[in-house]
Amino acid sequence: MVPDRADAARRPVAVVGAGTLGRRIALMLATRGGEVRISDPSHEQRNAAVRWAQERLPEVAARVGGTPGTVRAVDDLAQAVDDVWLVVEAVPERLEVKRPLFTELDRLAPPDAVLASNSSSYPTSRLVDAVRRPQRLVNTHFYMPPERTAVEVMSCGRTDPAVVRLLMDVLPDHGLQPFQVRRESTGFIYNRIWAAIKREALAVVAEGVATPEEVDELFRLNLGTDRGPFARMDTVGLDVVLDIEEHYAAERLGVSDGPRRLLRELIAEGRLGEKTGRGFYDHPR
Ligand SMILES: NC(=O)c1ccc[n+]([C@@H]2O[C@H](COP(=O)([O-])OP(=O)(O)OC[C@H]3O[C@@H](n4cnc5c(N)ncnc54)[C@H](O)[C@@H]3O)[C@@H](O)[C@H]2O)c1
Repeated sequence: MVPDRADAARRPVAVVGAGTLGRRIALMLATRGGEVRISDPSHEQRNAAVRWAQERLPEVAARVGGTPGTVRAVDDLAQAVDDVWLVVEAVPERLEVKRPLFTELDRLAPPDAVLASNSSSYPTSRLVDAVRRPQRLVNTHFYMPPERTAVEVMSCGRTDPAVVRLLMDVLPDHGLQPFQVRRESTGFIYNRIWAAIKREALAVVAEGVATPEEVDELFRLNLGTDRGPFARMDTVGLDVVLDIEEHYAAERLGVSDGPRRLLRELIAEGRLGEKTGRGFYDHPR
């Protein structure tokens, strides 16, 4: 059994992990009325995420032609997933964190609920043996909503096609633009290309060829982008960028270590990007 559009309109959703992405996903999922529950072991993160989403919800819901729903923090995971049609996981990019969580979600969520991972680089095929019902397991890879509204939807290899269809149908109601990844791909579509850009930009700085400011300015001048790769990495979080790059390096031969060394140095100084007030740039709070 797969939930249908009526279930999606009627039943709550849960977002597990209340960090940079979790709060953004919660915001988007709350734009059509209904209830979005945010779960995170950190009390501060849960509450900060609810405040963050609530502040923006009226404006974003109006933008997508919807109505603001409710976003609330729930500390008990079983209560967070009670009666939901969808759970989106947005916890750190580590399999040893994600796998036991999916086993718990599979046990606690309603048997038909869709279990989606927002992982940037792990296909959910890596989680299939952690759950009893892989037909409801899927990747939904969000970018940086509400500003960047693309979502890449990818099967775990055993996903019921009706789950993919449901997400492709429902996500546009929330102002999101889903793209179906046509076969399994570590890094999805856009992120694979973006990873190569980040890696070379980091290498250029690690080798002392240019500063982050200079690279970003060249991007603005040459591609007409508003921000360059270093400003974007600061928004994403340098710890998250490093985790993703470590994963590519583990999966592929020949990924050079220079970019990761530079990230490790900054992280060791507490420079994680916007979330700590300093990364490649200073971000006064
Ligand atoms: N940051 C980005 O730009 C971005 C973009 C797309 C996808 N992603 C992916 O989204 C996921 C989350 O990334 P993020 O940047 O939001 O990370 P983050 O570090 O900002 O937030 C992670 C949150 O998960 C919580 N957490 C840790 N263990 C948990 C558990 N067992 N159960 C519930 N919550 C737990 C932490 O307290 C924290 O609040 C990762 O898989 C990442 O690859 C990130």
